[in-house]
Amino acid sequence: MDQSNVTRGFLRVKEILDGAISAWGNSPSNGGPPDLSGHGPLFSWTTKAALLAAVGHGNQLIQPDVIGNGKGNLAHLVIVLRTGLKGPATRMPEGGPYVPDDQIQEIENWINDGCPD
Ligand code: HEM
Repeated sequence: MDQSNVTRGFLRVKEILDGAISAWGNSPSNGGPPDLSGHGPLFSWTTKAALLAAVGHGNQLIQPDVIGNGKGNLAHLVIVLRTGLKGPATRMPEGGPYVPDDQIQEIENWINDGCPD
């Protein structure tokens, strides 16, 4: 199968996360783009480097020790999208619409693959 048009690697993860923000802003119950500033100054996935350094409310989104070793399910980013992080946050994006399970799995797989470009 020709998958040359299928986005892969970091750009796919960025597409999923950007899509989550768009969907949140387009949801009538939210009504407009979110204010993400409360997450903190390092909250970003503009580039792969930014995502790997990203912190939300004091929690690193992708801890270095869960990359490339089958522990992607333990990344704070994966947990917060799937169920919410105990203590700091309910499931994200707050109140939904939430990221579809198969897309969360793509992010987990990307982390298990070692976060390729
Ligand atoms: C470690 C990961 C994260 C933590 C601990 C966290 C925590 C929180 C908390 C406490 C709030 C409510 C207070 C505030 O507005 O700042 C919030 C709001 C929100 N978060 Fe997160 N978050 C995380 C990751 C994410 C991710 C990955 C997304 C999107 C893909 C996201 C999307 C949102 C949205 C859309 C809001 C609502 C903003 C608004 O009301 O304008 N968060 N988050």
